[in-house]
Amino acid sequence: MNKEILSLCDSYKKYFDIGAAISPPSLTIHADLLKKHFNSLTCENQMKYEPMHPEEDKWIFEPADSIVAFAKENGMRMRMHAPVWHNQTPKWFFEANGRLAPRELVFERLEQHIKVVAERYRDAVYAWDVVNEATADKVDEMFLRRYGNNPYRLTDYLVTCGVEYLEKAYHLARKYAPHVQLFYNDYNECDPLKRERIYNLMKNLLDRGAPLQGFGMQTHYNINKPDLDEVKKSIELYASLGLRIHITEMDINFYTDVHSKEAAMEITDEMREKQNEIYVKLFELYRSYSDVIDSVTTWGVADDRSWLSRPDRPNYPLLFNADHSPKPCVYKMIDDAVAGK
Ligand code: GLA
Repeated sequence: MNKEILSLCDSYKKYFDIGAAISPPSLTIHADLLKKHFNSLTCENQMKYEPMHPEEDKWIFEPADSIVAFAKENGMRMRMHAPVWHNQTPKWFFEANGRLAPRELVFERLEQHIKVVAERYRDAVYAWDVVNEATADKVDEMFLRRYGNNPYRLTDYLVTCGVEYLEKAYHLARKYAPHVQLFYNDYNECDPLKRERIYNLMKNLLDRGAPLQGFGMQTHYNINKPDLDEVKKSIELYASLGLRIHITEMDINFYTDVHSKEAAMEITDEMREKQNEIYVKLFELYRSYSDVIDSVTTWGVADDRSWLSRPDRPNYPLLFNADHSPKPCVYKMIDDAVAGK
């Protein structure tokens, strides 16, 4: 029998929202957990470009609408995620007559997309990851020597439109969703070199007058990385730009990362304890920065559904077990919050 547990989000009311990124099946599978412990939702995929707008004249709104409706019925806030991304953007968006589309056409299509999405959802959401992962990843010595710590990831957007696509996206989002807080969202956000690139990308945007208001730290961590101290430095650095901070995609992997080739291993009690300890420490850190952190979202609800689990390599990265019982860390996180620690 599980101990009776208080609500996680109610216990964190004075600190920040507790969110989950979900797909429609969670509305039934995880309904009870969501209603009790979470007060914010993000669509895992349903508001991204390709799933929502796969062809120029074809829009698919129902899956996102069902999540928005659940949030509304249950008094939950919603974050919107993420139209401008090098992944999950349809090929047609960058093409015209079998070649790369000219910049003006890409900007026109971007405006059309952002207008439709914003007009449909701007009253239902309060925060929007407008651009996702535009920062260069894992650059080597040669890249550093040649380009310095250049922030920009080489994508179809960059090639077609130049770096201006970034500010354009924020201006368009502001134009069509004037009251929604606009975020930039990225991963490996605590790696010292990538952190500097993310900082530079956002600083450049702000210096050029883009209406950027927040940074989403994805927080896909594992049980060995990153050090808490790097997380702390990162929050401070990003917040020094005057941005609000959201933790947007939190999970703690037992493996290195989703793409790693490590074979399935036995997940020992010791590893589970470590994961619990990391969650407790991170939430303690987040509480101490609740003046700049407004929201902490996990990428999923419980271990029965996670993008990190593969049939050949199950994984258990979330706060709730596959049977929906809370992990020990959840009790501790609640006790600490209630005690105002
Ligand atoms: C990135 C994206 C998310 C999601 C995850 C994997 O972190 O920001 O939208 O696609 O990868 O599920």
